[in-house]
Amino acid sequence: MRAADVIVVGGGVIGCAVAYAIARERLSVVLLEGEDVASGVSGVAAGMLAPVSEAASPGPLLRLGLASLALFPDLVAELRERSGIDPELERPGSLRVAASDGEARALRERDRALPSFDLEWLDVAAARQIEPSLAPGIRGALFCPHESHVRSPLLARALAVAATTLGAELRVGVPVRGLVRDGSRVCGVETAAGLVEGATVVLCTGLAAGQARAWLGEAGTLPIAPVRGQILSLAPRPPALRTIVRSGSTYLVPRRDGSLLVGATEERAVFDRRATAAGVAQLLGEAIRLVPGLDDAGFAGAWAGLRPATPDQLPLVGPYPGLDGLVLAAGHHRSGVLLAPLTAQLVTGLVLGKGLPEEAAPLRPERFAEVRA
Ligand code: GLY
Repeated sequence: MRAADVIVVGGGVIGCAVAYAIARERLSVVLLEGEDVASGVSGVAAGMLAPVSEAASPGPLLRLGLASLALFPDLVAELRERSGIDPELERPGSLRVAASDGEARALRERDRALPSFDLEWLDVAAARQIEPSLAPGIRGALFCPHESHVRSPLLARALAVAATTLGAELRVGVPVRGLVRDGSRVCGVETAAGLVEGATVVLCTGLAAGQARAWLGEAGTLPIAPVRGQILSLAPRPPALRTIVRSGSTYLVPRRDGSLLVGATEERAVFDRRATAAGVAQLLGEAIRLVPGLDDAGFAGAWAGLRPATPDQLPLVGPYPGLDGLVLAAGHHRSGVLLAPLTAQLVTGLVLGKGLPEEAAPLRPERFAEVRA
């Protein structure tokens, strides 16, 4: 069989976005996934596209998140057309709620620190005008008008299907065992179903990339560790919210079908994909504190995903040093869905020999000693 131009390893939202962007350039691409499309954290993520309310401070994550957010409307329109799947992009904006006077002061400072983002500080009455079901005891909220959300598993599937309409080969249930090399040049991957040859291999395996010895052999390891996020779904009657509502680490995301997602815990170094009684109790408590009427909502289920986190919370995107033909697009932690279109654009540029643009320099894998070794 002829070698592919590009082999993409990992059928999460990043791998599917990369495969689609490369297929769009009319290059041949094989997308290999050990289980099924979006069977990892992409299948359970809330799909928030919320760079301002996610970012702790101005910096590369915020800048790159905003750049990627801007790519969504055109991408989603294109995917609907090509795949027939609607990823349900909704753009209701978000309210970052202050539960105390201290939080209100911090949010007002953030408003002042980010003057170019159309953020608006709302007092209690104005916030409750937008979301009347918010608890009367809140101290106000920061409105971020551009923040949006998609259905993450639908986005991954739409990207994968759209890639196949452009000639990409999607192979699910095919675990990859390791890289095949000719000296320092990568020339394919060994899978459970045999050898797949390709000129470039893009590792988009999320957490599995953290178990990199198996992939890279003596070449090295990757600084990626799991952070479990538990999330649950409520069925409020009538629908409780219109916007995304956040307070501290808790967020509420209203879905098109009337359900309400409540996320998410942040549990470091937990490899267990179960939702737990403690996690569900924490999320329910915080949701009802923010929106008291939710005490009457139906409980529709709870689940968990393992976010692939790097020490600095930024993904690893760029060539793997010392191995020609290996590109990393992994470790997206809380921002995989948001950064998927931009990551795909960056990887495509690398495959086309354009290098990584200056603004993506903070994502270079060799910023970590483990990767340089
Ligand atoms: N992006 C939201 C989360 O990781 O929980």
